[in-house]
Amino acid sequence: MMALVIAHRGASGYAPENTMPAFEKALDMGTEGIELDVHMTADGEIVVIHDHTIDRTSNGKGLVKTFTLDQIKEFDFGSWFNPGFRGIKIPTLGEVLELLKDWEGLLNIEIKSGPIFYEGIEDKLIDMIKEYNFEDRVIFSSFNHYSLRDLKAIAPSVEIGLLYMAGLVEPYQYAKSLGAEALHPLYYNIVPELVEGCKRNGIKLNPFTVNDIKEIEMIMAAGVDGIITDYPDRALSVKGN
Ligand code: G3P
Ligand code: MG
Repeated sequence: MMALVIAHRGASGYAPENTMPAFEKALDMGTEGIELDVHMTADGEIVVIHDHTIDRTSNGKGLVKTFTLDQIKEFDFGSWFNPGFRGIKIPTLGEVLELLKDWEGLLNIEIKSGPIFYEGIEDKLIDMIKEYNFEDRVIFSSFNHYSLRDLKAIAPSVEIGLLYMAGLVEPYQYAKSLGAEALHPLYYNIVPELVEGCKRNGIKLNPFTVNDIKEIEMIMAAGVDGIITDYPDRALSVKGN
């Protein structure tokens, strides 16, 4: 069984990250999963964006949490990537769930938590995935494991994946202690001992972000469960899809 291909921020190698065109492109390529990042606006709307400011990926400046949804929707989130995407707006999570409602892939929602913390975001996210019937095809991830622990307490059957960067020893033991179903390490940390330990302990391994075709081949061959990439077409072609 080869790794599930998960499009990082959509097909972000080809369209502005975390926008509808990036998600549509990933679907067109036949992606098997989609990863996206979430923050919260001043009026409590969940929006899909990587950074806690809009500076890098829009024509505006400021913290996401200082704008209402109407205000943040005024900015252009496409031109920075390519002028052909001018006028593309920031999506809400609801808009993305609507786009994906008939798709059968895995949605990985990464909760961005720190340096800005969003009070009550875990409750809101669980309400939304229930409303759109995503409970069985979603995995929440975060570098903030406190946030994932809170989410698991609210909805024990919803899967969580622990993001991390370092070469942790036996992190599957830690994953089990939190009731996590998966580990989401930076891909440099994929070594046989980790892959085998995860398999033995029933913990899935979904490394990020693997873009080079040779590295995609290596990481797939290592026996991981999912592969998070900006280029889902490359990973699909390695699988022979
Ligand atoms: O979820 C995998 C990956 O997205 C984690 O890092 O910074 O790209 O959100 P980042
Ligand atoms: Mg992410």
